[in-house]
Amino acid sequence: VISKDISRAVSILRSGGLVAIPTETVYGLGADATRSSAVAKIFAVKGRPAQHPLIVHIGSMDELTKWAVEIPESALLLAKTFWPGPLTIILKKTPLASEVATGGLDTIGIRVPNHPMALNLLKEFGGGVAAPSANRFSRVSPTEAHHVEEDLGSDVEMILDGGPCKIGIESTIVDLTNEQPAILRPGSVTREMLQEVLGHGVPVLKNSAVRAPGQHPKHYSPKARVIVVQENEVRAQAEEWLAKGEKVAVMSPNPAEAFPKDVLRIPISKNLSELAESLYANFRLTDALGAGVLIAVAPPASGIGLAIADRLARAANAFTD
Ligand code: TXA
Ligand code: MG
Repeated sequence: VISKDISRAVSILRSGGLVAIPTETVYGLGADATRSSAVAKIFAVKGRPAQHPLIVHIGSMDELTKWAVEIPESALLLAKTFWPGPLTIILKKTPLASEVATGGLDTIGIRVPNHPMALNLLKEFGGGVAAPSANRFSRVSPTEAHHVEEDLGSDVEMILDGGPCKIGIESTIVDLTNEQPAILRPGSVTREMLQEVLGHGVPVLKNSAVRAPGQHPKHYSPKARVIVVQENEVRAQAEEWLAKGEKVAVMSPNPAEAFPKDVLRIPISKNLSELAESLYANFRLTDALGAGVLIAVAPPASGIGLAIADRLARAANAFTD
């Protein structure tokens, strides 16, 4: 099912089928955003609760007025600055998108992805593609075509192979439907970047990346228990879990000698953008190594570090009881 055939992907979308599409953030599981029966298949395949709205991907900013109304100046400013790119904006919707895609809300999340294959697909398709990340509900988002195949198998008709995703974590989501713009999910378009363009502070709403009811924070998680600690706590934590008989992996830029010898070291970059790019692949590696515990160092909560900290916290939350 992995292919580079854009025309075939378009014809599958036109016939109401599902296509996994590459974007710069993560792979999406796409369907024609105007067709309820097609969009419903996404929810079925993912096992996603029906009230959990999807992001609609469009090919250019010029199409925004087909999908959204009462578009504030701030939306145009952000779109002009960051599209195509990893920024999703929430606006009041027109009737065009299926209510299944927007989870019955009167708002819609929209973005223009910055990936040549996705843009060519959207151009040839001419419409909007509703797409959540192409993983089963609460699992790790895929950043390569074969991740999608491993997770969804034959439940997806085709996986458009655009190579590894360059950003590696999901888009920043900004809600522009209220007086005050607010970040619902941090991403690689950082709070600082948004504030500079908008000329004022933008709050990050806690636990609100998922605004629809019935959600839990168990998201983006490997099978291993994720523990987020400060740099100077890594060694003690590793020793503690090893003593309990666990197989322990440590995600760290430090050399293997820095850890007890039984620790599985997952090398990462000190550079935060590179850390984001490889984060989900490293979650997958943790599972492939059979680790029961993954110890990760908390990044600084600014710039893209805020988004990485958010994903690590969600992964860690999966085991909060
Ligand atoms: O980078 C991304 O955003 C990737 C790629 C495929 O574009 N997509 C993605 O989709 O991460 P998903 O479904 O995993 O996350 C979509 C998020 C959800 O948290 C959902 O609650 C939020 O977008 N969302 C969508 N429409 C919304 C709306 N109208 N109001 C509030 N949140 C919304
Ligand atoms: Mg997702």
